[in-house]
Amino acid sequence: MNIAEAQATLRSPNPADYPELTGYTRERIYDETQGGGALYLAAAMARTMDLQPGQLVLDLGCGHGATSMFLARRYDVRVIAVDLWTSATYLDERFAAAGYRDQIAPLNLDAAGRLPFADGYFDAIFSMNSFSFYGGSIEYLAHLLRHLKADGLLCVGSEVLSHEFTEEQLRNPPHVYSFKLPPPNEGVDVFQGDFVKQHTAAWWRDLFVRSGLLEVLECAELADADVLYEDMVLFEHEHGIDPFDVAICLEQIAWGQQHRPKKSLFTLTARKL
Ligand SMILES: C[S@@+](CC[C@H](N)C(=O)[O-])C[C@H]1O[C@@H](n2cnc3c(N)ncnc32)[C@H](O)[C@@H]1O
Repeated sequence: MNIAEAQATLRSPNPADYPELTGYTRERIYDETQGGGALYLAAAMARTMDLQPGQLVLDLGCGHGATSMFLARRYDVRVIAVDLWTSATYLDERFAAAGYRDQIAPLNLDAAGRLPFADGYFDAIFSMNSFSFYGGSIEYLAHLLRHLKADGLLCVGSEVLSHEFTEEQLRNPPHVYSFKLPPPNEGVDVFQGDFVKQHTAAWWRDLFVRSGLLEVLECAELADADVLYEDMVLFEHEHGIDPFDVAICLEQIAWGQQHRPKKSLFTLTARKL
């Protein structure tokens, strides 16, 4: 299937399902988000968090800061925006240009390393399309939760798999999840570096419950996850963004109609015990 054939079949989400994004243009919903769901996923996450004006929120693995600005604007919270691959200077310039310099503080650090925050510092922790890179262990949860206040909420939302990979698939990964990126990233192993670290919503829930550190309040795949992936492909194609990604995402969508695991999106919200 190529994009020209697929275009007419690709669906878009119903704006009524995302009142948090009222006033956002389509361009703004996708602007500088990285990964499935864009601000639709951020909205689905934030609505589970009961955020109050003035609260201090850690946006962990904030990428280019789109979610940090969404949280600051929509919920009037203060945000510490942490990322590894994005420099603090880039984030600072972006936040300043958008008028959030006093509300969002950027930091460049490794979430897996020492975290330079006081114990119980944050009212809430938000992490979108990032947690699977480092957060999939009980040890990590203990490391992070130290900095969340008692009863504070941790909300993780991300791309997720509909089913775990089978043993056979781990030995011989499906081609749609194991492919060569274009230069200069042709050496990156996308299966080992990314997809193998993704799991099902149930896997993440189980990890959080087993930790004994969290009470899971909500854990669900987004009902319109397929639609959000289709809309993202449409948006990227319409705006001439990353033709390689458009092509591989189309292949994943088509493959996922017949095979498992398919890509999905989920939110997981838990209270610190
Ligand atoms: C797919 S991007 C998502 C970015 C952003 N949350 C969004 O949704 O647009 C994954 C992000 O996780 C960050 N990340 C990966 N490993 C990290 C680590 N060990 N510490 C901090 N950030 C990390 C990367 O820097 C990257 O920006």
